Amino acid sequence: MWNALKKHHAEVAERRFIDLVDAHRANDFSAAAGDMRFDYAKTNIDATGRALLIDLLNEAGVAAKRDAMFAGIAINETEGRAVLHTALRNLDGGPVMVDGEDVMPGVLGTLDAMSDFSTSVRDGTFKGEGGQITDVVNIGIGGSDLGPAMAVKALAPYHDGPRCHFVSNVDPADIASVLRTCDPATTLVIVASKTFTTIETMTNARTAQAWMAGTVSDTGAQFAALSTAEDKTAAFGIASERVFGFEDWVGGRYSLWGPIGLSLMIAIGPDAFKAFLRGGQAMDVHFKSADWSENVPAMLAAVGIWHNQICGYTTRAVLPYDNNLMRLPAYLQQLEMESNGKGVDMAGVDLDVPSGPVVWGEPGTNGQHAFYQLIHQGTRVVPCEFLVAARGHEDDLHHQHQLLVANCLAQSEALMKGRTLGEAREKVADKFEGEELERQAKHRVFPGNRPSVTLAYPQLTPFVLGQIIALYEHRVFVEGVVLGINSYDQWGVELGKELATALQPVVEGTQGTDAKDGSTAALVGFLQTNGV
Ligand code: F6P
Repeated sequence: MWNALKKHHAEVAERRFIDLVDAHRANDFSAAAGDMRFDYAKTNIDATGRALLIDLLNEAGVAAKRDAMFAGIAINETEGRAVLHTALRNLDGGPVMVDGEDVMPGVLGTLDAMSDFSTSVRDGTFKGEGGQITDVVNIGIGGSDLGPAMAVKALAPYHDGPRCHFVSNVDPADIASVLRTCDPATTLVIVASKTFTTIETMTNARTAQAWMAGTVSDTGAQFAALSTAEDKTAAFGIASERVFGFEDWVGGRYSLWGPIGLSLMIAIGPDAFKAFLRGGQAMDVHFKSADWSENVPAMLAAVGIWHNQICGYTTRAVLPYDNNLMRLPAYLQQLEMESNGKGVDMAGVDLDVPSGPVVWGEPGTNGQHAFYQLIHQGTRVVPCEFLVAARGHEDDLHHQHQLLVANCLAQSEALMKGRTLGEAREKVADKFEGEELERQAKHRVFPGNRPSVTLAYPQLTPFVLGQIIALYEHRVFVEGVVLGINSYDQWGVELGKELATALQPVVEGTQGTDAKDGSTAALVGFLQTNGV
């Protein structure tokens, strides 16, 4: 199937896809999930290409693998684990079995415990030594940070709980900048770590403990933990009633839906958090039931495969025209690149197509005044993914929202249409002539024919955010199945961790640099000379 797709691509690569965009294409090349619309009409995918992409999904067995995932089969084969973050949002979907046992009573029990705790923090029943909690500091990294940090920002209009802060980096600048804004006597520290061993998180947690101990007599009483390792949370001194546990079938970058979402729940309240879960569940139902051509996650994945593995575009820009989604690109970098940035397939055989793309982005319109120059006129094609809401939350500033929307639509139109040399000449014909006119006109040519997709939704509510995040999770899943890889392990982060541990005594000067390569030894020397 790869060959058929590559052959088809070779046949159509040179055409201008704007010529495909007739009155019917917008309907034919879009799909809906609930009231969310996914438009991929501004790509070079035609009916033949789409049929071949769908054949590819079928050939890879995406439907069977999807059903295996939802059924709790251990599809994370290298770690022997089920992949069941979907169970965390399965509010009314019935039993989910793992090894013959229904996990839903445990999931719903933990959700209730989180709701009770969040409510008590929000209404002041749970207090710090100095009174009602004013600040929540979530200490975690990777999936234990990016999800809640992204979602708390995304749902800022719904935030009516205490202030939420996120500390992730082991760089002391991170935690110092947060703690200096908080009062230890009214701060709740949440230590979020699936494993409760991650060095950055445990180091920051101990720093927060020492900071609090300067003011508060019982620091443990103002700490909560989110983890699969309850023995380790107890050893850290966090009482079991404030430990919210989950199972190893929830991957770190898929964990926002459960206890790792506690800071989000405290920020927006349990009801809004459940609306977020329901949005995710609605996307699950859609993913399980819609035909591939109508299936938004499947088609988003198919377009991704077309652009990356077939067209050879190595990066993808995620461009939310929704400022509150400012952390979405960073969140997706972990979700997509940690999941699908693999070099071998499930059997350990080298991939013969490229793995997942480099994902990057910034909110529009800021990006327009920064890197869009390269997107429009650079020599590389960067497929763009626009996200846009019909309405913001600032009713009195609706005219600004309309301007935002106009900018979003203008960018995808400009990428598709471009500007010819003739049009560019006309633009500057009143200012220049002769050779200078030609030279100036050339700088104003836009090649166009650059693909983009647009995800449009009514408003960024908790429900819609749930739809969006579940959509991206399933897109990653589909792409991973087509590549034949394991999207649920992350061995690629291990080597750096091991070397950092080994380098710590070298940096501290208790071990020499003899065993190190010349470059590393020289850098250690420079940093030591300068005070490390
Ligand atoms: O090092 C990568 C990673 O394992 C991520 O997959 C994970 O989200 C992050 O570290 C944090 O892990 P933990 O939640 O166990 O602290």
